[in-house]
Amino acid sequence: MSDRPREQAVPPGLGTVVVAEDKLQARIAELGREITADYAGRPPLLVGVLKGAFVFMSDLARAIDLPVEMDFMAVSSYGSATKTSGVVRILKDLEADVSGRHVLVVEDIVDSGLTLAYLRKNLAARGPASLEVCALLVKQGLQKVDLDLRYVGFEIPPRFVVGYGLDLGER
Ligand code: IMP
Repeated sequence: MSDRPREQAVPPGLGTVVVAEDKLQARIAELGREITADYAGRPPLLVGVLKGAFVFMSDLARAIDLPVEMDFMAVSSYGSATKTSGVVRILKDLEADVSGRHVLVVEDIVDSGLTLAYLRKNLAARGPASLEVCALLVKQGLQKVDLDLRYVGFEIPPRFVVGYGLDLGER
């Protein structure tokens, strides 16, 4: 995973590595063990937020030693290419009925936190038995709302990062 100037094309010039691959995989294995212990006897429904979270979700799901179910939502937030406005539109909704389920939202990265705040509110209204969030990356110092993130992979500096499913302009 690396950061790079916003206007630059994909390689070369990706910038510096923010989270090295071995650290990423080790942390995901740890998160998997934590989630396995926390959800013993009540397997979670993993809700992946497309598109960015799909690579993380597939690694995380394999690191959880429980019969997890998976579903996906796709959202788009209005704003510039790199900043959300917090006004979120659901492009693809869940297929599963989450009422009475133990829902674990799997998010790639939290920037302002506005997308996640919206998702939390939206999913909470559907009556899940529990609702928690697992975010791979959280940018330090940018969140405007308290997000109550149960699982966090890494806190990173507030820069735009790409790779491991995280995109810039769909690339
Ligand atoms: P927020 O609503 O400001 O927290 O933005 C969250 C969403 O914006 C994430 O789910 C990503 O899709 C996207 N995003 C925010 N920061 C980055 C980044 O550094 N790289 C790639 N996508 C990002």
